[in-house]
Amino acid sequence: MSPLFNDVFLKACRSEHVPYTPVWFMRQAGRYQAEYRSIREHYSFFEISRHPEVCAQVTRLPVEKLGVDAAILFADIMTPLKARGLKVEIVEGVGPVFDRPIRSGADVAHWKPLDPSQDLPYVLETVDLLHSQLDVPLIGFAGAPFTLASYLIEGGPSKNYHQTKAFMYAHPEDWAALMDDLSAMTLDYLLAQIHAGAQAVQLFDSWVGAVSEEDYRKSIAPAMNRIFSKLKETEAVTLYFATGAGHLLTEWNKLPVDVLSFDWRTSANDLRRLGITKAVQGNLDPALLLAPQNLLRARAQTLLDQFQDRPGYIFNLGHGVFPEVKEKTLRALADFVHTYTSQNKPE
Ligand code: CP3
Repeated sequence: MSPLFNDVFLKACRSEHVPYTPVWFMRQAGRYQAEYRSIREHYSFFEISRHPEVCAQVTRLPVEKLGVDAAILFADIMTPLKARGLKVEIVEGVGPVFDRPIRSGADVAHWKPLDPSQDLPYVLETVDLLHSQLDVPLIGFAGAPFTLASYLIEGGPSKNYHQTKAFMYAHPEDWAALMDDLSAMTLDYLLAQIHAGAQAVQLFDSWVGAVSEEDYRKSIAPAMNRIFSKLKETEAVTLYFATGAGHLLTEWNKLPVDVLSFDWRTSANDLRRLGITKAVQGNLDPALLLAPQNLLRARAQTLLDQFQDRPGYIFNLGHGVFPEVKEKTLRALADFVHTYTSQNKPE
């Protein structure tokens, strides 16, 4: 590894002492960037993944333009499902849409398992390329079983996840089989990314906040436990993200995961009250990226002040960057996090 390699992000994930607070942004590669938009004129979303040089370039863009402390592989949570032959498209302004939502366990029974090196060689090639190109850690990622199941069952994005939860209640055995299938796929995919060179992996469970704590414990936590227990046997650090899931943090704190990532609905005081002991990541409301500069700066400073006495803290957003955000706003925010916290770090 190059002597210039910046491992501040990895250290914060392991709750080790850091010279400043590391920062990266969820959805840091995307339509808000002019270079990304021009690449998208030549390649569809999934075609980018199938061209490792282009995909590596898109992944590096935010590191070069924003000065963030980690890169996140450019792909989508749907990438492994598409590679297994499921018909899914990303509809602009909507999200992933499946042409045949699943209705019972019978729909899942004929799926073939994912073989990452056979089905997604281009993703692993991109990770391998990036491993030699980057001087910051690469975060690999996957969708978590509940969030993937929600797209598979609803057929696309949803407001209340009624069909997903109805499936979970009405067909508990089929639900368990679906969680088994998706957790095996997610685990194999993440292990392949780690073996190809990803130093960290984040599980995106964006919509799991829709379930109660009891349902999480009974119907989802077993799959998450299986995934994180196996990942723990590797060198990689692990992160787990959701929105609107403050009520699940006590359950999350029991999982063998390194970092909990949540949104602006949860505060540093809530963490204290709940006795959360793990490293944390978050949680600026991305809407603030469209607010006046002084308000954005003041809110970022408040966050940094609130979290700075925790052993592990990574500055991030509570959800992804919107296409309307200006690149220079993100650049200035990353600079601010670095300068403010290198001056204010207790020795
Ligand atoms: O920079 C990064 O964060 C890495 C790449 C990344 C993308 N999607 C690229 C993308 C990551 C980590 C994701 C994860 C993802 N995808 C999640 C979990 C995180 C979250 O936001 O909650 C979810 C739920 C998805 C599903 C999905 N894919 C949505 C909701 C959308 C947006 C649809 C739209 O047009 O607004 C996508 C498409 C997508 N994934 C884009 C990008 C850059 C936009 C694609 C384009 O039109 O070029």
